[in-house]
Amino acid sequence: MSSQMRQVMRRTALLVSGRAAWVTAHRGKIVEGDMKGASDWQTCTACKQSQRGLATGATGRAAVETNINSKMASRFGVVQQGPPIEVFALNKAFLDDTFENKVNLGVGAYRTEEGKPWVLPVVRQVERDMAANETLNHEYLPVLGLDSFSAAATKMLLGSNVAIDEGRAFGIQTLSGTGALRVGAEFLARQLGYKTFYFSQPTWENHRLLFLNAGFNDPREYRYWDQNKRGLDFDGMIADLKNAPENSVIILHACAHNPTGSDPTQEQWKEIANVMKEKKLFPFLDCAYQGFASGDLEKDAWASRFFVEQGFELFVAQSFAKNFGLYNERVGNLTVVMSSKEAIAPVKSQLTLLVRGMYSNPPNHGGRIVSTVLNDPKLFEEWKTCIKTMADRILLMRDSLRNKLLELKTPGTWDHITQQIGMFSYTGLTTKQVEHLVNVYHIYLLKSGRINMCGLTTKNVEYVAKAIHDAVTKFP
Ligand SMILES: Cc1ncc(COP(=O)(O)O)c(C=O)c1O
Repeated sequence: MSSQMRQVMRRTALLVSGRAAWVTAHRGKIVEGDMKGASDWQTCTACKQSQRGLATGATGRAAVETNINSKMASRFGVVQQGPPIEVFALNKAFLDDTFENKVNLGVGAYRTEEGKPWVLPVVRQVERDMAANETLNHEYLPVLGLDSFSAAATKMLLGSNVAIDEGRAFGIQTLSGTGALRVGAEFLARQLGYKTFYFSQPTWENHRLLFLNAGFNDPREYRYWDQNKRGLDFDGMIADLKNAPENSVIILHACAHNPTGSDPTQEQWKEIANVMKEKKLFPFLDCAYQGFASGDLEKDAWASRFFVEQGFELFVAQSFAKNFGLYNERVGNLTVVMSSKEAIAPVKSQLTLLVRGMYSNPPNHGGRIVSTVLNDPKLFEEWKTCIKTMADRILLMRDSLRNKLLELKTPGTWDHITQQIGMFSYTGLTTKQVEHLVNVYHIYLLKSGRINMCGLTTKNVEYVAKAIHDAVTKFP
């Protein structure tokens, strides 16, 4: 409900109670029929009630207050309606839509060629084994989670890395990528007193809220997307980083930038690192799509590893939601890299207190699945074939959509569809064009024009391409 709507409802409640107050105040003084007109009570000059509908006469006001206090008041009445979260609201609208050929390009999760969620076969297998394993129980995990999980996750991210060899990198199990970002941000705000953070414009819609809730109070954007080029605004990004105050936390998407699908090249990453080193900025990499982006775990980890090799102290938030399809199991890892191993014990102790006071300890199920797979060479190979399957299907859909748009001679250039990587494509469609797709074609996508490539299938891609063609030609 919008705040405007809420205000209307609140006013209506006041009007109703005010009307009741008027009746109370005039009981015995009015004849039946005087109250028939809906606004009689508002215009009563005898008790000087105002045109605005709020009782201003002493009797009326007292009665209204008594009425509110006794019957309608709630301590929660002061709570303002918050705005809906676009991606969840969109998903609900999709589910409620009864149109047969509706298409969901909004949701941020993998879908098969049949448009269904996919439980990876290797995950199913491990779950079966876990269910049959009577040595497993439901005891609490340690506050920082399963060591076997976080060590393997950190290794998967950093590879054979000097920071691991020197014992100055470690991971802690968190509530998925969001939890890793939140714990990391709260640590930086509380322990190091950092208050300024930068996120790309545009970025994943949760970064801002999450850092503010964690105690940061100075949110800033760096330029990232060039709408004309339909690609990275690298000069803008560098200029903004150069102007950032020392110790600003810079949120960087480690690979497969959400929502644009446009990543810096390796040369550009080098320049970003140089500026960040020079300006003493703190890199907080957000790695939600390792392996899922290109199909290759090593390739997708390149930027994170490069920053560590450059000697940065940094945090990386890892999510296993996408690459393991474990969205609702909340499996994540916060990798911490420091320049000295002496700092590890105090940092871990503060992270322990932070998590203890936040959610006490993480859940077991998903973390154990990931740990089992990453620590078993055979299962690990099987999992890699699964991520390849997902990445390849996305690439196929990118090709199909672009080809269909070219066949239809849809105005504009569509090369960015295949140039972008990862699950999302930032189509460049305008708000009006998006509205047309949703309202006329029942194709659901974010207002920004971001689409999830997995929502496309060989069966619906033509329908979507024709709809985009129509939207682009009708609303150029
Ligand atoms: C860029 C980015 N970071 C972090 C996340 C966190 O996801 P989760 O908390 O489900 O791991 C997402 C999920 O969509 C994302 O796109």
